Amino acid sequence: MMKDLLRTEHLSRKDVDLILDTAAQFAKNPFRSKDALANQTVAIYMTKSSTRTRLASETAVAHLGGTPIFLRGDDLQIGRGETISDTAKIISGFASALIVRTFAQSDVDELGAHSTIPVLNGLTDTDHPTQLLADWLTIREVFGSDISGRKFTYVGDGNNMSHAWLTMGAIMGAHVVVATPSGKWAPSDSAIKVAQNIASKSGAKIEVLTDPEVAVKDASVVYTDVWMSMGDPEEVRSEKLKALAPYAVTKNLMSLTASDSIFMHCLPAHRGEEVEADVIDGSKSVIWREAYHRRTTIQAILYHLVRGEIEGNH
Ligand code: CP
Ligand code: NVA
Repeated sequence: MMKDLLRTEHLSRKDVDLILDTAAQFAKNPFRSKDALANQTVAIYMTKSSTRTRLASETAVAHLGGTPIFLRGDDLQIGRGETISDTAKIISGFASALIVRTFAQSDVDELGAHSTIPVLNGLTDTDHPTQLLADWLTIREVFGSDISGRKFTYVGDGNNMSHAWLTMGAIMGAHVVVATPSGKWAPSDSAIKVAQNIASKSGAKIEVLTDPEVAVKDASVVYTDVWMSMGDPEEVRSEKLKALAPYAVTKNLMSLTASDSIFMHCLPAHRGEEVEADVIDGSKSVIWREAYHRRTTIQAILYHLVRGEIEGNH
C-alpha cells in the first residue's frame, strides 16, 4: 500500500486506472460517496498561488462529506522556523489528509515521511501529479482507452509539467514527446531518466526533442504550459521568452497534427505567449473539461488514499 501521492512516478498503471474509473463516477455523480470523509478534515497547505487546485481540493473534500482547512504559506509556524517534521506530526493529529503545494519537492517528500496521514502533492517545482490524472481522464474521454498509434506531445518550457507529462505518458504506455529549447529550459536529466525507466517496463516510447514541428507532426494531443512558472526569477523573463518563442502553439503548428487532435493546457494560460487565442479558444481545445476534472480526480485520489487502496509501483 502507498500512503501518499508525492510524485507522479510512484503511481502504478493499476492505480491510475482505478483513480480514473472512480473519477469518472464522481463526474457523473459528485455526491456518490458523500460520507467517505464525514466528520473528517483535510488540510490544504499552499505556499504558491492556485485557482484550480485549491478550488478542486476544497470542493472534492466537501463532496466527500469532509471539511477542508486552507492554510496559506505564512499561516503556519513553518515560516518562522518550526521544522517540517514537527509540522507534519501536528497536522497528522488534526486532519485525515494533507494536500500541499510548494517549491521544493524535498519538502513534500519530508512532509510525507513524517506524517501518519496521506500527503498529496498539489504541485512542486518539479512535478504536478494531480494535474496529470485530470489530463489523462480527459484524454481517455476523448480517445477511449486504446491509444495505440497515437502521439502525445508537450511543447514549451521543460518545467514541472513537462516532467509530469513524460512520467505519466510512460506509465500509460504512450508514445510521449516533449519539445523544448535545449540547455537551461530543457526537462531535467533526472526526470527523463525516471520516464525512460518506467517506459522500459510499460512499452511506452519517449522522445525528447527540440523541434516543435517534428514533435507535433501527426500528434493526437498538443499540450503546453506557461513560460514563466511560479518561482521563476523575473530577471530571466526576456531571455526565456525569446528562447521559447518558436514553441508557441499557433494555428500553423496545430495544422501539422492529426485531424482529430486536441489542444490541452493545465492553465493558467497567457494568450499570445505560449498559445494563440485562436487555438486555446478554438474547437480543438478541451481546457474546460480538463480543468473540471481537477475536482473529479482529486476527489478520487483522496477517496482511495484515505481507504489505503493505492498500491504504488514498488
Ligand atoms: N493547473 C493548476 O494547477 O492550476 P492552479 O495553479 O490554478 O491550481
Ligand atoms: N508550470 C506552472 C504550472 C502551473 C499549474 C507553474 O509551476 O507555475
